[in-house]
Amino acid sequence: MKIVMAIIKPFKLEEVRDALTGIGVHGLTVTEVKGYGRQKGHTEIYRGAEYAVSFLPKLKIEVAVAADLTSSVIDAIAAAARTGQIGDGKIFVVPLEKAVRIRTGETDVDAL
Ligand SMILES: Nc1ncnc2c1ncn2[C@@H]1O[C@H](COP(=O)(O)OP(=O)(O)OP(=O)(O)O)[C@@H](O)[C@H]1O
Ligand SMILES: [Mg+2]
Repeated sequence: MKIVMAIIKPFKLEEVRDALTGIGVHGLTVTEVKGYGRQKGHTEIYRGAEYAVSFLPKLKIEVAVAADLTSSVIDAIAAAARTGQIGDGKIFVVPLEKAVRIRTGETDVDAL
C-alpha cells in the first residue's frame, strides 16, 4: 500500500475529488496547509533582488491506496490539479505499512 500525498491549489479540490471518485477511490483526507516552492511564494522573482519567503495557502490531500493503483491515482490528481501556471503543486508517494478499519477490524487493502 501507498499514501499518495498531493499539495494542490485550494480551488482545485472539487475537480481532484471528482477525478478520484471516478477511478474508485473511496476516501481521502484534506488538510489546509501553507507552503512555498521554488518561487518562494512570489509570483515573480527579479534577478538580483532579494525577497523574503512568503507562505501561500494550499491544500494537502492524502489518499491511501493499494500499491497497484498508485499510478492511476497520481495521473488522476495531476490531470485534475494542473493549470499550467506556477504553484500547481506536487505529488509525493510514501510507503504505507498498515491500515485498519476501526469499526470492523479489517486490515490493509480490505480496510481502504
Ligand atoms: N520540496 C518540497 N517539499 C515539500 N513541499 C513542497 C516542496 N515543493 C513544493 N512544496 C509544496 O507544494 C506547494 C506548491 O509548490 P509549487 O507547485 O510552487 O512547486 P515549484 O517547484 O515551485 O513548481 P512551479 O515552478 O510549477 O511553481 C508549495 O507551496 C509547498 O506547499
Ligand atoms: Mg512554485
